[in-house]
Amino acid sequence: MKIAIDSPAGAGAGTQSKLLSEHYNLFYLDTGKFYRILAYNKLKQPNKFNISNIKKQIKKIKLRDLNHKKLLSNEVGIEASKISKNKTIRKLVDLVQRKYAYKPPKKYKGSCLDGRDITYKILPDADFKFFLTAKLKTRAERRYKELKKFNKNIKYKEVFKSIQIRDQRDYKRKISPLKITKDSIVIDTTNLTIKECFKKIKTIIDKKIK
Ligand code: C5P
Repeated sequence: MKIAIDSPAGAGAGTQSKLLSEHYNLFYLDTGKFYRILAYNKLKQPNKFNISNIKKQIKKIKLRDLNHKKLLSNEVGIEASKISKNKTIRKLVDLVQRKYAYKPPKKYKGSCLDGRDITYKILPDADFKFFLTAKLKTRAERRYKELKKFNKNIKYKEVFKSIQIRDQRDYKRKISPLKITKDSIVIDTTNLTIKECFKKIKTIIDKKIK
């Protein structure tokens, strides 16, 4: 089984993808983390940000690298949305992500990916496609709560603004923009709890597989 989820930041796609992956025994891939790793490296060593180096960095990425807490910061998220506009970088990242999507480790029954271009670029033949969204204010509040755990000095306004900027970049870019495909089921999570949203998605999936 392959599940593809696209969404703007803070709509709950990561949380739902993790829950779905656990429930259906699927391999979960948070595709944004690839861009976040490159962004983190760029912020740390800007002079090493060139294609031949980026190629090497992508080759070196191990699954456990995707879990580093340092990738979660607001600055890294903003930088990731700049980097992700680059056609050459996207091509390199796409290759790795497709490999995981179509050949997940053997112990899993399939894969579940979330990102911005999953439903039409990385997993175009997914069995289930969802587009999760929520009001900007709600998404900013959720993200603010998450980020506050790592950075006590973070300001709500700062988070709101950065999500707004990322939305603009992700929806408007020429290469692989965030969009709702015709075959995606749209779920507005603004007024849903995590449990309610999961139940909604699970009902849709179970109806089809039974
Ligand atoms: O999902 P996350 O917030 O970690 O993604 C960080 C950034 O990476 C996004 O704002 C987006 O610009 C980019 N991204 C992307 N395509 C994906 C996943 C993330 O362009 N499939």
